[in-house]
Amino acid sequence: MTGAAGQVAQPAGMDGVLMSETTLAQLKHQEAIIKHHKQGEGKALKIVRDERLYLATHRNFEQWCQEQCGYGRRYANKLIKSTETLGTKVPKTSVELPDGKYRVLYADPPWKYNNTMPDYFSEQGDHYPLMSVKQIREMDIKGVAADNAVLFLWVTSPILEEAFDVIKAWGFKYKTSFVWDKVKHNMGHYNSVRHEFLLVCTRGSCQPDVKKLFDSVQSIERGKHSEKPEEFREIIDTIYPEGKRIELFARREVDGWDYFGNEITTT
Ligand SMILES: C[S@@+](CC[C@H](N)C(=O)[O-])C[C@H]1O[C@@H](n2cnc3c(N)ncnc32)[C@H](O)[C@@H]1O
Repeated sequence: MTGAAGQVAQPAGMDGVLMSETTLAQLKHQEAIIKHHKQGEGKALKIVRDERLYLATHRNFEQWCQEQCGYGRRYANKLIKSTETLGTKVPKTSVELPDGKYRVLYADPPWKYNNTMPDYFSEQGDHYPLMSVKQIREMDIKGVAADNAVLFLWVTSPILEEAFDVIKAWGFKYKTSFVWDKVKHNMGHYNSVRHEFLLVCTRGSCQPDVKKLFDSVQSIERGKHSEKPEEFREIIDTIYPEGKRIELFARREVDGWDYFGNEITTT
C-alpha cells in the first residue's frame, strides 16, 4: 500500500486524497482505544472527529462511526460531549494498579500544567487525559513498591519542583537524574527547551545490581508525541536486571514488564 515517502495508496472511498501513514496510524490507534478500552472512547472519538482522521478510510464521520464503532454520528457526539463535560478528570476507577510488589518502577505521568505554560506543554491534553499533581501524588504507589525499590520518574522542567512532592508521597528519595537531550528544541518562555529529566529515586536500599555507568546525558531525537526513547528502558533493564518491574502510565505492553495505563491496547 505504500506510495511516495510517507504516503499510503488511497484506500477505497476517499476521493483521491492521499493520506499520510501517520494519519492512518493515528486513526488505527484511536480505533484500538475505542474497541478495547471503553474509558478512553469519548476522547478517541473526539480526536478522530476533530482531526478528521476518518478521512483516511471513509468518506465522512457518519460512515466511519457506523462501520468502525457500530453506532451513528449522533451517539458518537453524545459520547464526546460527556467526555468534554468530565473535562480532563479521569475517574479513579478507569484502570486499577495491579497487585504486587515491584522492585523497579518506571513512570511517565500525564502531568497537568497550569495554563501559563508554552503551547507545547499545554497541548498535552489534546493527546490523553491529564492528572493534577494532587491526583498523581495520591496514587497508592507505596502499596505496589517493594521495601527496597527504585523509581525512574519522567519530569519536565516546569513541573520539577512539584515532582519532589510526588516522590516523597510515593515513599521514595531522590538520588540522581538522567537528562534526555531531545536534540531538537521547543520554544519555552525562558529558554529554548530540548531536554527532559528522568529522576532516579530509591526506597530502602536499592543500588544498581550491575556496576555499569551510563552517561547521565543521552542525546536521542524525539519520536511520537510524549513517547520516551526505549534506550532509557534498556538502561534500566541493564543496571537493574533483578526483580519485578512495572511501567506506570505505559502505552504499550513490553515483555518482562507489568504495566498500568489507560491507553494500553492489546493487538
Ligand atoms: C506521558 S504519557 C506516557 C507516554 C509513554 N511513556 C510513552 O513513551 O509512550 C501518559 C499516559 O498516561 C495515561 N493516563 C492518563 N490518565 C490516566 C489514569 N488516570 N490512569 C491511567 N493512565 C492514565 C495517558 O492516557 C497516557 O497514555
